[in-house]
Amino acid sequence: MSLAVGFKDVVKRFGPVEVLHGVSFELAPGRVIGLLGENGAGKSTLMKILAGYEALSGGELHIDGQATHFAGSRAAEARGIVMIHQEFNLAEDLTIAQNIFLGHEKKRGWLLDDSAMRAEARRVLDQVGLAASPDTRVGQLIVAEKQLVEIAKALARKTRLLVMDEPTATLTPGETERLFALIAQLRSEGVTILYISHKLDEVERITDEVVVMRDGRFVAQRPTASLTRQQMASLMVGRELSDLYPRKEAMDTAQPVLLQVQGLSVPGWASDVSFEVRAGEILGFAGLVGAGRTELFEGLLGLRPALAGSVLLAGQPWTRRSPRSAAARGLTYLSEDRKHKGLHVHLGLRQNLTLMALERYTSPLLSPDAERAALHDAVRDFGIRAGSLDTPASSLSGGNQQKLALAKVLHPGPQVVVLDEPTRGVDVGAKLDIYHLVQRLAREGKAVVVISSELMELIGLCHRVAVMRGGRLVTTLTADQLTEEVMIAHATGTH
Ligand SMILES: Nc1ncnc2c1ncn2[C@@H]1O[C@H](COP(=O)(O)OP(=O)(O)OP(=O)(O)O)[C@@H](O)[C@H]1O
Ligand SMILES: [Mg+2]
Repeated sequence: MSLAVGFKDVVKRFGPVEVLHGVSFELAPGRVIGLLGENGAGKSTLMKILAGYEALSGGELHIDGQATHFAGSRAAEARGIVMIHQEFNLAEDLTIAQNIFLGHEKKRGWLLDDSAMRAEARRVLDQVGLAASPDTRVGQLIVAEKQLVEIAKALARKTRLLVMDEPTATLTPGETERLFALIAQLRSEGVTILYISHKLDEVERITDEVVVMRDGRFVAQRPTASLTRQQMASLMVGRELSDLYPRKEAMDTAQPVLLQVQGLSVPGWASDVSFEVRAGEILGFAGLVGAGRTELFEGLLGLRPALAGSVLLAGQPWTRRSPRSAAARGLTYLSEDRKHKGLHVHLGLRQNLTLMALERYTSPLLSPDAERAALHDAVRDFGIRAGSLDTPASSLSGGNQQKLALAKVLHPGPQVVVLDEPTRGVDVGAKLDIYHLVQRLAREGKAVVVISSELMELIGLCHRVAVMRGGRLVTTLTADQLTEEVMIAHATGTH
C-alpha cells in the first residue's frame, strides 16, 4: 500500500531558465510531509514532476526504490500518485460529478454509469463537507467550493500518495478542520501526504516531517517536532527572521475620512453595512468565508448589483459606481480571485502592471521604454521573482502572481486602497514585505481596507477591525480589543 519516493539530482528547465538545480531527498512512506519554501522556490514544480504533470530535464525520480518516468499525470495516477493543484485544474463548464470523474468515467458495459458516478460524487462531497449537488456546474461555485471539489476529486481516486498544494488557502476554519481529519484518516490508511503551505501553524500541527527548499535547491529535512515556526521561517528565507507579524503603528485620528459608506446592501450577500476609513488608517474586515466581505466590496465597486444609502469619497458623493470611475476617483481594489479577476495571466508582466494606468504611458503613443522601466521598479519594490521579465503572468509562481497583482492595483497611485486577501499564498518573507508596504501606504496618508482570513495579520496590522457575519457588520473592534478569540466569537455568533 505505502509508497516511498526519492528525488535524485532533479533538474527542471523551462526553456533556457533552470528552476530546479539538482534536488535530492527521500521520503519514507505513510507520513505527512510539509514542503516549505519561499514563493518561487520550486515546490509546485517539483510536485508536478512527481505527479506526472511536468517532465524532468535531468536527474531521476524513484518510486519504491525504482527509477520511474511518468509520461503524464494519468501514468502517475495509475501508480496512486494524485495532486491537488494550487491553481485549480477544473473544467468550469462541466458539473461537479463530471469533473470528479473526468478521464476516469465509470462505465456499465459501453455506457457511462451516471448514477454510480453521482452516488460516488455525493460520497466524496460529503467527506469534504460540500453541500452542493453533484450536478452543479463548477463555474457557478465560489473559490472555496472549487477547492473542496479539487479535494473531493482526489479522494475519488485510489490514492497512495497525495500532494496538496496550499489546500487551505481559501477554506474556513471549519472546512480546514475537516480536511485535517481527512488527512489523519488517510495517513492511518498508509497514504503518504505531501503538504505545501505557507501557514506554518498548520504545518506545525499536521506534519510529521518538513522538507525545506530555497531557490530551486533542497535545504533541509527535519522532524517537525524539532523545529519552531520561527526556525522553519528562517530556514525558508535563509536568514534569521525576528518577527512573523508586523508591529502596529499608531495613527493620527484627526485625519479626514476618505471613504464613508452608509447603508450599503448587496442583495443576497450583505445588508445595510456602514463604515468609514480615515486617511492614514488601516481598517480590517474579518469574517468567515461567505460572510459577505468580498461581495460587499464588489457591490461597492459596481461589480455586483448593490444599493447604497450614500457613499462619499474624500467627502464627495460617489453615485455612478464602476471599477473605471473608482480608478478615476482614486479608489483601487485588489480582488481575492487573482486568477480570474486580478491578473490577465496570458499577458506579459509589463502589460499587466500598466493596464490600469495606460494613459501615463501613452504620450500619445504607448511607450514601451517607460513601461519597461515601470516594471523594473515594481519587480524591485515588490520583490517579484520571475525567471524572465518577458514571460506571461501565468508562468510566475503563485505567490509572485499575488505580488504582481498588488503592484498592478497600486500602480495608478490611489488614495483609497481595498486589498482582499493580499497575502494569500505568499511566503513568510514576502508577507512581511507586504505588511510593511501596507503600513507605508497608511503612513503616506492613504486609507487602507484589508480583508483577511488570517486573524493574526489583522491583529498586527489594523487600527480597527470590522467583523461581518451573515452579511451584516456585527461589530467594529478597536486595536485594544483585538484578539483571535474575540474576532472568532463575533464571526461565528458565539459571543
Ligand atoms: N510554466 C513555466 N514556465 C516558466 N517558468 C515557470 C513555469 N512554471 C514555474 N516557473 C518558474 O519556476 C520557479 C518555481 O516556481 P514554482 O511554482 O514551483 O514555485 P513555488 O515554490 O510553488 O512558489 P509559490 O509558493 O509561490 O507557489 C518560478 O521562478 C517560476 O516562475
Ligand atoms: Mg506553488
